[in-house]
Amino acid sequence: MALYSEKVMDHFRNPRNVGVIEDANGIGEVGNAKCGDIMKMYLKIENDIIEDVKFETFGCGSAIASSSMATELIKGKPVSEAMKLTNKAVAEALDGLPAYKMHCSVLAEEAIQSALKDYQDRTGNSIGINEDKAEE
Ligand code: FES
Repeated sequence: MALYSEKVMDHFRNPRNVGVIEDANGIGEVGNAKCGDIMKMYLKIENDIIEDVKFETFGCGSAIASSSMATELIKGKPVSEAMKLTNKAVAEALDGLPAYKMHCSVLAEEAIQSALKDYQDRTGNSIGINEDKAEE
């Protein structure tokens, strides 16, 4: 079996939603100290819906594929759904990641949580983000 699924390779080669949202109202940046990879997520939220989402990832192929898939999974969805997105769901949607690459999908979950928390902080619109979890 190939190390990486077709989906991982597809999202790595043709990442969706790469870039910056100039008028984003939620921005999150997270990194992994061990590998040094960094992920930045931009959200444009209107009426509790993720109208747009873009990312910039300075990292490995799995991190790029995870960010790409994560943006696809939350785009157009209510904030409440985006809040529930787990790294496991991202990895499953990619048809799996090797065990030692699971932390790359964790980065995607954390980047979204961090951007949602930023949205909450900026707008004062409480969406019930747990401070401790998002600050990790
Ligand atoms: Fe660190 Fe993939 S190796 S995010």
